[in-house]
Parts: sequence; C-alpha cells; structure tokens
Amino acid sequence: MSEERFWNNNVGLTELKGRKFLQMCPPMAAYLTPGTKVLDVGCGPGPITRDIAAMVYPGPVVGVDSEPKSIELAGNLVKESHISNLTFQVGDALQLDFADGSFDVVLSMNVIGWLRDPVRALQEQRRVTREGGWVLVMMADYGNILFYPACPALEKHLAMLSHLNDPSDQEVFHDTSQGRRAVELMSQAGFKEIKIEPYGNANYRGTDGFDGIYAGWMKFYLNLEGPFAALNRKLIALGLLDAQTLLTAQREIEAWHAHPHALYLQMPLLAAGRVT
Ligand SMILES: C[S@@+](CC[C@H](N)C(=O)[O-])C[C@H]1O[C@@H](n2cnc3c(N)ncnc32)[C@H](O)[C@@H]1O
Repeated sequence: MSEERFWNNNVGLTELKGRKFLQMCPPMAAYLTPGTKVLDVGCGPGPITRDIAAMVYPGPVVGVDSEPKSIELAGNLVKESHISNLTFQVGDALQLDFADGSFDVVLSMNVIGWLRDPVRALQEQRRVTREGGWVLVMMADYGNILFYPACPALEKHLAMLSHLNDPSDQEVFHDTSQGRRAVELMSQAGFKEIKIEPYGNANYRGTDGFDGIYAGWMKFYLNLEGPFAALNRKLIALGLLDAQTLLTAQREIEAWHAHPHALYLQMPLLAAGRVT
C-alpha cells in the first residue's frame, strides 16, 4: 500500500486545496523565472503548482501525483483558471514517467517525508532534470516546531511521531525528522553541489495559516478518524499514546487557538541540488 492513503479523502484534499506557493516555500521562488520548465512531484490537488505555472509562464509546468482524485481536482483547476502552460498526470515519485533531462527544475514539497525510500525519489527527480538544472525539495522537521502558549501533551505527541519512521513497516510510515538529514539524503542521491536554505513560518491571529494550524492538529494529527488515524492507532499499539493524552493534547490546541497572543513557529528548509 502506498503513502497516499493518508491524503485520499476529502478532508485531506480540502486542506491541500487552500495552500499557496509563497506561504509554503518562499526561497524556491528564486529558481522559478519566466520560461523555466518545471515538474512538481506529489502536487496534490494542484493550487501550489498553479501558482508556479503563473510564475514561470510561458514555461511548461507538469504536476504528478499518485492519487487519481487529486489529479482530477487539479485538472478542474486548470479548466477553471484557463492556464495554458499547466498539465497534470497520475504518476509515481519513485518511477517518474519522463525521459532523462526533461526539466529545468524538478521540485517536491511535503512529499518525501511520506516515502519509505526518499533517496530513490530524489534520484528520480535528479534523473529527469537537465544538466545544470536544479532539484528543489522542501523538507520539514518536526523537531523545530514551537507553540506559545506551550502545549506539553501535544508536544509529547509530536515527539512520538518520530517512532513511525521504520521503512519496513508496511502499515504506517511517516518520517518527521527528515529536515535534519537533508545533506545526507541529497548526498546519497548523488548531488555534489547542495544548498540548504532554512526559512521560518510564523502563524498568529490574523495570519492566513493560523486557523489552518489549528485545523491541521484537530482534524489530522490528534484524530482517531480520518487520514492520520492509522498513525495514532500505531502509537497506541506501541504503548506510546493513550486516549487521555490525545484528549489533553486536543484541549491544549483549542486553548492555544483561543489565546489572543498565540504563536506557532516552524523552520522548514529548502534543499537544492544542482544536476552536474
Ligand atoms: C502532504 S501532500 C503534499 C501536496 C503538495 N505538494 C503540497 O505541499 O500541498 C503529499 C502528496 O504526496 C503524494 N504522494 C505520496 N506518495 C507518492 C508517490 N509515491 N508518488 C507521487 N505522489 C505521492 C500524495 O498523494 C499527496 O498528494
């Protein structure tokens, strides 16, 4: 079974549909100039890919995702917005259906943390990028997420997620500590010229992402239903999580959301590898 099952219901897709490129990974913009030929791997329902197509117009942009429902929604976006340089297709990050050197830039955002073989995915991204082009990978690391007011049970749960990174586990997999391994993963995939650009996300009342952070925790990570249920069930089976901790964590994020001076800080990074 592949990782997309965590995202294959309408709850996950609704969240992904609201995303914007410039909120997600600002340092990537420097690599995207008019005319650039781009592949977005694991594009989801496509709003970020659409933003990219506007930035590189008239350069052709392709989005691939293993989840057919996402590609159907992404196709609707193209029809609604009449964008001529954007196409989407179903595809697998581990075996991209493109010839060697097809793109100037091949990027992925929030994807390889869900893949049991991230190095193979990076090698595939490298293979379909032309010589002199760039592979751009947005990686998160849950070790650098901060909440104010503090949410101790939630933070305990966050730390527990790092136990779900066993690639031999066919049921559940999520690597939440990938960011710190960015240099290692890019090196293992064969990149010699690597740039790591960390950046910060701050969300507080009035910012676009504030309600999304709350919804993300309530609907996904702290929920025994929906796309992340399997992760929590696994933590319970491992004896790490219990119902009381989950409930306490939910109350904490509710209190965080209601606090007038609530702040959420995270530092994702962009790993850029030049194809030589
Ligand atoms: C967290 S979502 C990120 C979507 C989008 N890049 C974004 O940042 O909003 C992860 C995406 O990776 C896709 N995915 C998971 N495994 C994949 C694979 N092997 N090949 C292609 N896409 C995959 C999922 O279907 C999902 O759309």
